[in-house]
Amino acid sequence: MTVPGPGFAVVTGATAGIGAAFARRLAAEGHRLLLVARDEERLASAASAASALAGPGAEVEVVASDLSTADGCAAVEDLLRDRDVDVLVNNAGIGLNQNFVESTLDAQERLLRLNVHAVMRLTLAVLPGMVARRRGDVVNVSSTAGFGVPHPGSTYSASKAWVTNFSDSIGQSVRRHGVRVMALCPGFTRTEFHDRAGIDMSKTPAWMWLDADEVVRAGLRDLRRGKLISVPDWKYKVATAAMRHLPRPLLQVATRDMRARTGRDQHDRR
Ligand SMILES: NC(=O)c1ccc[n+]([C@@H]2O[C@H](COP(=O)([O-])OP(=O)(O)OC[C@H]3O[C@@H](n4cnc5c(N)ncnc54)[C@H](OP(=O)(O)O)[C@@H]3O)[C@@H](O)[C@H]2O)c1
Repeated sequence: MTVPGPGFAVVTGATAGIGAAFARRLAAEGHRLLLVARDEERLASAASAASALAGPGAEVEVVASDLSTADGCAAVEDLLRDRDVDVLVNNAGIGLNQNFVESTLDAQERLLRLNVHAVMRLTLAVLPGMVARRRGDVVNVSSTAGFGVPHPGSTYSASKAWVTNFSDSIGQSVRRHGVRVMALCPGFTRTEFHDRAGIDMSKTPAWMWLDADEVVRAGLRDLRRGKLISVPDWKYKVATAAMRHLPRPLLQVATRDMRARTGRDQHDRR
């Protein structure tokens, strides 16, 4: 597939981590941008950073919206339906440092509304226009956690399994219309994600960490090669191949060992 020229790109969760890296990269490629997150001050700084990369006359808009709420989603959907969106990056997502049996319905629903509902709603808001114009890209930021590795008591990995399966399925259905939908599945990436969720990653070895700019570079390259699922970095490619093909009991033992080495089993045992 060819790389379409710069157009209008929307990035959710654009003020930190992987979303901020997408905003920088797409700005540098010359796209006009709409950045979405909740914190207005951080949105203003993200917009300045993107404008500086895009150069004079750059158009960078922001909208402060909580995508874990129905009203926040609807406000962004309305904006997207009125515009010809060329690239949508559904990136905003959260984790939870809570074992399922000890968590609350409110926390679980907030995670699912942001990680699953918002992704489905914004994708549905842009895809009909993309199909009609026979042009458009949707990147849904998922995770290697969605490949069926048992993360005991976690709805996070289940939410990401949904994002990967959804993107693969919708991507197959629209590719004949010239539209690309892809799940981007990073492994551990240095961002604010784990701190925000209160997850202690201090025992995670340095070699397991990815850089957000590298994740975005690999993701956009895979998108433009027509991939439906992108797993950046060879280590995680090997790991996810094992997750998909190893017998489940073996996987459970390997995962338990990995979680013990990185200190994550403390959380699971609670
Ligand atoms: N970091 C990792 O190791 C890793 C690995 C695999 C997959 N991922 C996935 O990558 C995506 C991005 O994560 P990240 O690591 O870059 O996280 P991050 O550094 O915590 O950034 C999260 C971004 O999402 C925004 N956000 C959070 N809640 C929101 C809400 N309710 N409505 C709108 N925006 C919201 C945040 O801004 P505001 O707080 O201002 O709203 C921020 O811009 C997520 O989907 C995550 O699941 C991350």
